[in-house]
Amino acid sequence: VSKMIYFDNAATTFPKPDIVYENMDIFYRTNGVNVGRGQYDLASKASNLVQNTRDLICQLFNCSFDQRVVFTSTATEAINIVLQGMNWQGNENVYITHFEHNGVLRCLNMLKKRYDLNIHYIDLDPRSLEYDLDKIQIQFQENKPNVVIANHASNVCGLITPVEEISRMAKDYNAEVVIDCCQTAGLLDIDLKLIEADYLIFSGHKTLYGPFGIAGFIIKENSKLKPLIYGGTGIDSGNLELPSTIPDKFEVGSQNIYAISGLNTSIKWILDNGVENIQEKERNLTKSLIAVLQKFDTKIYLSKNIDNHIGVISCNFKGIPADRIGDLLNQHNIAVRTGLHCAPDAHRLLGTYPAGTVRFSLGYFNNISDIIALEEVLESLLLY
Ligand SMILES: Cc1ncc(COP(=O)(O)O)c(C=O)c1O
Repeated sequence: VSKMIYFDNAATTFPKPDIVYENMDIFYRTNGVNVGRGQYDLASKASNLVQNTRDLICQLFNCSFDQRVVFTSTATEAINIVLQGMNWQGNENVYITHFEHNGVLRCLNMLKKRYDLNIHYIDLDPRSLEYDLDKIQIQFQENKPNVVIANHASNVCGLITPVEEISRMAKDYNAEVVIDCCQTAGLLDIDLKLIEADYLIFSGHKTLYGPFGIAGFIIKENSKLKPLIYGGTGIDSGNLELPSTIPDKFEVGSQNIYAISGLNTSIKWILDNGVENIQEKERNLTKSLIAVLQKFDTKIYLSKNIDNHIGVISCNFKGIPADRIGDLLNQHNIAVRTGLHCAPDAHRLLGTYPAGTVRFSLGYFNNISDIIALEEVLESLLLY
């Protein structure tokens, strides 16, 4: 059986760096105790690991002293805590990109019904896939934003949103800004001194190369966000009220120390390798991938400037349904994802709704040999 070629890194990066598996195993065997619930040495060591992981996240995103890291088990949970915890009054103007994941869209749909929200799409030319900041400025003037939610890079076509500029424009109206960095944390340079984010969402198991079961958000210490989930925190247990401090009031229930040990290692691995080097490798592979796809009768959903995309490339093969291509590639041990990728609005914009696209998503552990193998398989399937 030939080695599987994995092009589904947008779903989760796979494999992880070896050291992540190794350190998780060691940590869980030797220190897998509950955090913040005991005074013995192992409990303190577990708490220190959690604190050290928060510090590493702050280092990666250049956080200010007043920003706090909150851990959740999924990015979806983080999005729900943030969006459901806002102080909605009704009738707010909420701006989103065309590329939001269902984690955002479904939560917002529920809130829209409850609070009669007005949802606006941040302007984007569907043909050139380019953002025109002047047009967005006019949109904001016409309907003043209360909340702006922007996906940093699409999990459908990899398009990068200019979040520094959009977040600064949103702040002219004192809007609350939420940035979803699930596809970019650890891959693009994310500097919270330049992005005006009240909430930055991250996922451990995607571009941070950690395991499933750990994600979170960054929040300002003075945020008025209301908690969504109530329960034990290991501190002030006689009090029926949740602690008022952040992150404690959002981190109820036992921490996933096993996953946090993996995330701790994976962020160190990213910092050791350098975000720019990881990005550079992916960028080169992305260019080769696009060049291969262009040799066939395909429509690739790209803006003019390839540098506006991360290594998540969507296309369709003329006359062949996306899921058929997925099946054929699977028969040759090549893993891709087809369909809507949990982001239906992106397909409405691209004109690929409801059948979707074939998505090739790259990661650090792909190599040029994977792209060459793909080319050979596509040639055997489509040219003969
Ligand atoms: C941009 C984006 N946001 C949010 C999510 C949700 O992540 P999870 O399913 O791990 O909660 C994903 C997952 O694909 C995503 O790509």
